[in-house]
Amino acid sequence: MERPLYNTMSPLRPYRGEFKAQEVIQECGKVWRLITRSSHWNAIRRSLSGLNYNGNLSATAVHLHADAITAEMPADIDLAPLRDLCRSLISWRTGPFQLGDFVLDTEWQSHMKWGRVAPMIPQKSGLRIADVGCSNGYFLYKLATLDPELAIGFDPIERCWLQFALLQSIMRVPKLAFLPMGILALDAFPSFFDFILCMGVIYHQRDQALAVKRLYDATRPGGHVLMESLVVPHDEPLVVTPPDRYAKMRNSWTIPSAASLMTLFLDAGFHDVQVKSFGPLTPAEQRRTEFAPFESLADFLDPHDSSRTIEGHPAPHTAAVIGRR
Ligand SMILES: C[S@@+](CC[C@H](N)C(=O)[O-])C[C@H]1O[C@@H](n2cnc3c(N)ncnc32)[C@H](O)[C@@H]1O
Repeated sequence: MERPLYNTMSPLRPYRGEFKAQEVIQECGKVWRLITRSSHWNAIRRSLSGLNYNGNLSATAVHLHADAITAEMPADIDLAPLRDLCRSLISWRTGPFQLGDFVLDTEWQSHMKWGRVAPMIPQKSGLRIADVGCSNGYFLYKLATLDPELAIGFDPIERCWLQFALLQSIMRVPKLAFLPMGILALDAFPSFFDFILCMGVIYHQRDQALAVKRLYDATRPGGHVLMESLVVPHDEPLVVTPPDRYAKMRNSWTIPSAASLMTLFLDAGFHDVQVKSFGPLTPAEQRRTEFAPFESLADFLDPHDSSRTIEGHPAPHTAAVIGRR
C-alpha cells in the first residue's frame, strides 16, 4: 500500500542529526493523531493510500513554470476517482493545478502572488528552502524551479497535509517535503535554511515578533527570509481586537502596514531589509470556485466601497519584506 503522508517526510531522512528530530516527531504526531482519530480525515487518508491506479497515478511529465502547476497523466486513466477525492478535500486555497484534463481551480490565483514576489527571491540553486504556511504546496512547486537542495513546506492543518500528499503522489517532484508543523515549531531547525518564504501567515500570529524571531533563528547566517502579508495602506498597523474581525477572518490580531513589516524585521536583527508594496488585493486573485465554494474576498469587502472591508476597515493590500540574517 502507498503511504502518501509518510512519503512527504522522507526527503528529510538524510538530514537527521541536523535538526531536532524528536521535536519534529512530536509536532507531526499531533497532526497525525488528529487525522487518524477523525473518521472524516481517516477515510480520506485511506482513499488516498488506495488511489494509486495500479502504480499509474504518477504524472508522465510536470510543468512547473505554467500558471497552473500541470501534471500530464497517462491517456487511458479515469480521473473520476481523483476528482472525487479532490472534492472531499475542499477547500483548495492555493493553486491552480491541472491534472490531466482536470483543472483544479482553487480560491487563489496564486501565480499572481508568485509573479509579485519571485523577483525578490535569491535566484540561486542548491539552497535549503522552507515555505512556512505552505497550504497545499503550490509555492513549493514554484520553488522547485530554483533547483533547491531541499524545500520543506510547513503547515499545521490536516487538510493541507492531505492535499499536498495527494498532489505529490502525482507530481513526484524530487527534494520536496511537507511537515505538518506551525511557525512557532521552527525552533526544531536552528540555523538550517538558506531561504525561508512565509506568506499570508503573520497577521494570524498573536505574537508577531516571536514568529519573526523563529524565522530568523531557523535561517543560516547570510541566508534570507521573505515574508509576504496582507497589509493596511497606512503607516500604522491596524490592531483588530476580538470579537471584531478583519475581512471576516478569524484569528487576525494585527494587520501590519508595510512600514511595520520593516520594523518587525529590523527588530528581529535582519540586515539589508527591503519592503515592497504591491497595492490592493482584488477578487480577480481571490474568489469562489467549484473547489473553494465558500465565501471569498468579494464577500469580505463593502459591496458599495471596495476600499473598505465589510466591517468598515481599510481593505487589504499586500506587501512583502526581505532581510538577510
Ligand atoms: C492565508 S494562507 C496563505 C497560504 C500561502 N502561503 C499563500 O500565501 O497563499 C495561511 C496558511 O497558513 C497556515 N497556518 C495556519 N496556522 C499556521 C501556523 N501557526 N504556522 C504556519 N502556518 C500556519 C494555514 O493553514 C494556511 O495554509
